[in-house]
Amino acid sequence: MSIPVVTLGAAASAHVPGLEQLRGPVTVVRRCDGLADLVAACQSGLARAAIIAPGAVELTASLVDRLRFAGAAVVALTDGAPGPDPVDGVEYVGATVEAAVLADAVTRAVGRFGDGSARPKGSLAYADPLYQPAAAPPSPAALHAEAPAAEGPGDGRIVAVWGPSGSPGRTTVAINMAAELAASGTSVLLVDADTYGASIGASLGLLDESAGLAQACRIADQGGFTGSALERIAVSVAIKGARLRVLTGITRPDRWPELRPAALGQVLDAARSLVEVTVVDCGFCLEADEELSFDTLAPRRNGAALRCLEVADSVIAVGGADTVGVPRMVKALAELADAVPTAAPRVVFNKVRAAAVGRAPEAQLREAWERFGPTTGIAAFLPVDHAAADQALLAGTALLETAPASALRIAIADLADVPVTGRRGRMPGPRLRDVRFPGNPARLPR
Ligand SMILES: Nc1ncnc2c1ncn2[C@@H]1O[C@H](COP(=O)(O)OP(=O)(O)OP(=O)(O)O)[C@@H](O)[C@H]1O
Ligand SMILES: [Mg+2]
Repeated sequence: MSIPVVTLGAAASAHVPGLEQLRGPVTVVRRCDGLADLVAACQSGLARAAIIAPGAVELTASLVDRLRFAGAAVVALTDGAPGPDPVDGVEYVGATVEAAVLADAVTRAVGRFGDGSARPKGSLAYADPLYQPAAAPPSPAALHAEAPAAEGPGDGRIVAVWGPSGSPGRTTVAINMAAELAASGTSVLLVDADTYGASIGASLGLLDESAGLAQACRIADQGGFTGSALERIAVSVAIKGARLRVLTGITRPDRWPELRPAALGQVLDAARSLVEVTVVDCGFCLEADEELSFDTLAPRRNGAALRCLEVADSVIAVGGADTVGVPRMVKALAELADAVPTAAPRVVFNKVRAAAVGRAPEAQLREAWERFGPTTGIAAFLPVDHAAADQALLAGTALLETAPASALRIAIADLADVPVTGRRGRMPGPRLRDVRFPGNPARLPR
C-alpha cells in the first residue's frame, strides 16, 4: 500500500512530481503551508510521514515528538550532511536526491516508526511509544551497592521521587537521598522537574536564577545533547566533601512549558552517561486533561512528570503519614498505574508520628494500608522531625550535615541503601495519646 505523505517547504514540494511518477510506494496527500498546517495534517491522520525541506521549520525534538505522536514519521531533507546535532528519530536525506531514493527514505522512516496503530492510551501517550533512551535502561536495582562499581557510560540509573499532593516531603526525600548517595561516593545528579513548585534551588540555598533544567531542555531540544553539555549546566554543591550536581528547576511556575517531555527525555538520557544515579524530584500531578486539547503543539504541564516516571528505573512514592495522606496515596498509585503502567513504585510514608495515627504509628499505618488492599507494600517509614528538617532548610543543605544522627536522616539513608555508621537505635516518636487510625475502610476511597 502506498504511504501517504505530506510535504513542507519548497524543496520538499519540488519532489512531488518525481514521487508521483514513481506510481509506487509514496503518495503525496498534501503540500503544507506552514508549521500549523503540517501538524494539523498529521494530527488528522492524513499522513504517515512528513517530508520537511531544509530551513522550512526549526526541527526540534519536541516537534518530532509531536509529529510522531500524531502517527507521522519525519524525513528531513538536508542541504549537505545532517549537521552536528541530528534530532533523534528523524530520517535525513539529501534535498537533491532522486525521487526513488527519497521514497526509500520515507519507507525506511515509516518502517522504523512502526504502523502507528500501537498508540498508547491515556497519558502514556506522553511518551512516544517509539521513544528509546540512548542506553537501554538497566533493570531496577538497589540504588546503591556497598561498593559501587563504576558503571559504563549510559548505565546510570534514574530514580524518580514522586507522590501525591499536599507537600508530603518529595523534595526532602529527593535532596537527602541524593546527598546520601553522593557522600557515599556515588556520582549523583539531582534534578528538579516539579512544574508546580520547584524548590530544590531554594532548599539548597542556591541563588541560581538560571533554571538549570530549563536551560538543559532548551539545548536538548535542538538535538545532540550529551553528558558533557549537562556537566557544564549543572551546578555543583558540596555535601560533606562530596560533590552533588544539581539541575535547578523553573524559577516561576508559569515557565513550565520550557520542560517539554521530549527534551527532558534527552536530558535524562544524557544524565545516564554523566552520573551513576540521577534523582529526580517530580511534580505530583499526572492528570492528562490537556490531552483532550487538540491544540497542535500544546505543551502539557504534567508531561514532564510523566516522562520522568516513564524513563525512571525506580520510583519512590512519598506520601504523608496521616488520615489525609494515606487515601491520597492510594488514589495516586491508581493514577500512576493508569498513566505509567511500567512504574513499580516503592511506597514511603513520611512525617510518621503517633499524634497523627496513634501509638505504634508504623503498625497503625501498615494495618490501614493492608485494609485498603493495594498490592504494593510499604517500603519505608520516615519519622517526623521538624527540628532536623527546619535546620537543614535554614542551612540550605542536607540532613547529613546538620542532623547526621537524626532518625529522619538515618531512615532516608536506609531508603537509599547507604550504610550509616554510628547509628542510633529506634526512631524517636512522640509518645502521646493513643489516637486510633480510622478503622472504617469505607472512609478510605479506593
Ligand atoms: N520527616 C519530616 N519531618 C518534619 N518535617 C518534614 C519532614 N519531611 C519534610 N518536612 C518538611 O515539610 C515541608 C514540605 O516538605 P517538602 O518540600 O519536601 O515537600 P514536597 O512534597 O516536596 O512539597 P511541594 O508540594 O512543595 O513540592 C518542608 O518544610 C519540609 O522541611
Ligand atoms: Mg517539592
